[in-house]
Amino acid sequence: MKKHIITALTIVSFSFASFADEGMWLPILLGQKNYNQMTQMGLKLTQEQLYDINNASMKDAVIWFGGGCTGEVISNEGLILTNHHCGYDAIATLSTPDNNRLANGFWALDKSQELPAQGLSVAFLVRMEDVTERMLAELAKYPADSQLFYAQKEGEKIAKAAREDGKYEAFVRDMFKGNQYYMFVMERYTDIRLVGTPPESIGKFGGDTDNWMWPRHTGDFSIFRIYANKDNKPAAYNTQNIPFKPKKYLPVSLKGAENGDFAMIFGFPGRTNRYETSMGVKLAIEQTNPAIVKLRTKRLQLMKEQMDANVAVRLQLASRYAQIANYWKYFIGQTEQLKHNKVYDRKFAEEETFKNWASANPGYSSIFSKMEKEYDIYKMYNKHQVYLVEGIRGSILVAYASAFLDLEKELLKDQPDTSKTHAQVLVLKARYASFYKAFYNKESDKEIMAATLEMYYNDIDKAQHPEMLTKLMAKAKKGKETELINKTIEKIVNKTIITDSVKLFKFLDKPNLKTIQKDPAIQYAFAFTKNYNNNYKKYIDAFNFANANFGNKYMKGLMEMQPNKYFYPDANSTMRCTYGNIKDYSPKDAVHFSHFTTLKGIMEKEDPTSDEFIVPAKLKELYKSKDYGQYVGKDGEVPVGFLTTNDITGGNSGSPVINANGELIGTAFDGNWEAMSGDIAFDAQFKRTICVDVRYTLFIIDKLGGATNLIKEMTLVK
Ligand code: ARG
Repeated sequence: MKKHIITALTIVSFSFASFADEGMWLPILLGQKNYNQMTQMGLKLTQEQLYDINNASMKDAVIWFGGGCTGEVISNEGLILTNHHCGYDAIATLSTPDNNRLANGFWALDKSQELPAQGLSVAFLVRMEDVTERMLAELAKYPADSQLFYAQKEGEKIAKAAREDGKYEAFVRDMFKGNQYYMFVMERYTDIRLVGTPPESIGKFGGDTDNWMWPRHTGDFSIFRIYANKDNKPAAYNTQNIPFKPKKYLPVSLKGAENGDFAMIFGFPGRTNRYETSMGVKLAIEQTNPAIVKLRTKRLQLMKEQMDANVAVRLQLASRYAQIANYWKYFIGQTEQLKHNKVYDRKFAEEETFKNWASANPGYSSIFSKMEKEYDIYKMYNKHQVYLVEGIRGSILVAYASAFLDLEKELLKDQPDTSKTHAQVLVLKARYASFYKAFYNKESDKEIMAATLEMYYNDIDKAQHPEMLTKLMAKAKKGKETELINKTIEKIVNKTIITDSVKLFKFLDKPNLKTIQKDPAIQYAFAFTKNYNNNYKKYIDAFNFANANFGNKYMKGLMEMQPNKYFYPDANSTMRCTYGNIKDYSPKDAVHFSHFTTLKGIMEKEDPTSDEFIVPAKLKELYKSKDYGQYVGKDGEVPVGFLTTNDITGGNSGSPVINANGELIGTAFDGNWEAMSGDIAFDAQFKRTICVDVRYTLFIIDKLGGATNLIKEMTLVK
């Protein structure tokens, strides 16, 4: 599952495990109790093989891929496997209408054909360290209720020393809602090259229709390679760089796995909020999620219209579209399953138990009643925040125009500091290339601007509108609001310097206040952003801060209340291990889902009239001729996907699924519909991880792609 990056709307927390399969364990904390359980379930490896900082262990074969995904090293020459949807942006960027690798697939038949994926990087975990004592000692110097506020600053001090002058990246992350702190030291490689990808019709087979659902038939994989300098150290792209030699790589098993077999996953899960309260669940169901879904539905529709009409636009917007669509469906599913799995009631009951315990513990007795009042205020402004981030700034032009705010701030000073304005200009130039130019499509963006403005106008409390909007709409004749909005947006788009790169760069080379204050797009963006920053942001910030303090106490209280429970921390983009089994499930009465899918199912789903269910001719030929080679499963079919009970979330996309012997059997890529509430509450009955069977991956590489060079490079266990 690819990590969702969504500004201030998500908040971190933790949880405890009541089942073997629940828990995203820090490898360093895989204690004897976990290990005993793992060996009982079938694991054959030693504790040191799982995590060791001095000798090669699992952590050395698992990488943080591109910032939002996971990948694994599968050869002695730095070959890495991840999901297709994790390599998607790189693949789309390396595609043109004439050489459309996204549509046709790509296979490097030797290393000279590998393609540098600019901007892509991967990071290894060098070590992790418990720094709780130091952090808590430092934080104790601040007033009790503001300590969490200083955690980042204090963590930064500790991390700085570990960076060894830029050799490593290092950061301190809080665990258990700020009751513990760990430092993570990472080493980042930046010369990454595309080695192979199936055509999108395989890599994204099933599209958004099948996304977040089982049964699944997506060949969601892509292959890259890490390059290093002569000393095997990170280096910027250079033709002289050589394939990276890993400390450890994963052997690949052709043996498959049966229902009930042991499976574990290492990776970088992004965020869970397992100790979200019933109050938070209610707000998500009633307000936040429906607002996100409503705005995204519109934006997606308007993007798709332009993408369907033009291949170049499709390639330009494909990865942004996929990202928006992925979490559009996520929020639909989460809302549905929070209701269906009665998460509000379950949380509420847990909280009653806590409140009973807390009534005799003064430090905790009033935390819930206080937090209820915070929610009462937050509710009034939350939607405003969502409509700003997901609506108004859902336009690329407006999002980019908002970024001029810091430059204006500097220029407004009596004596602007030229080194500071220069720094702002550099930021704006970089963002122009990586964001604006990369994703701006005039037609769809203009429509998105108009549509989101109208939605904002209709759905957000009129008392909270920026003055500009109130004045504008006062001029609208009844029933002619849409017309006025469209005309206004049209004018903004045509008159702004941002849509005219010559004018924009002339300005950036010699920035001045007057142009900013005259520019209609910048002023439009500023009107909404300043209105929010000056009048409403304080409520959101106050809530987030109160909620962080609340969470810290609630967690601490829960741990005191249940001293014998074995707790694991919420996901926070740090390396975790989860263990469980291969397992089928029953989504509802009378329905049973088997634990694997096959090539046969792809043929069953084929629909040439839908771009999500096209089956490439070559794959059909292979199916007809039954040319499966060593990749055939026990039933004579090629296995495609399988299910495990592992506890993963967004960020785990591309994670290795490892059998009891430490061999790779698949790549995790999704969660299932019935457990979409999983980031907020683990559901042992329904929660499954959806994986690509590595035999399908190899079958596609070998038989469809003809890249036998890659098969030979791996260590296959037969
Ligand atoms: N839901 C999966 C994830 O979050 C897959 C996303 C890509 N597929 C898609 N149809 N958008 O990792």
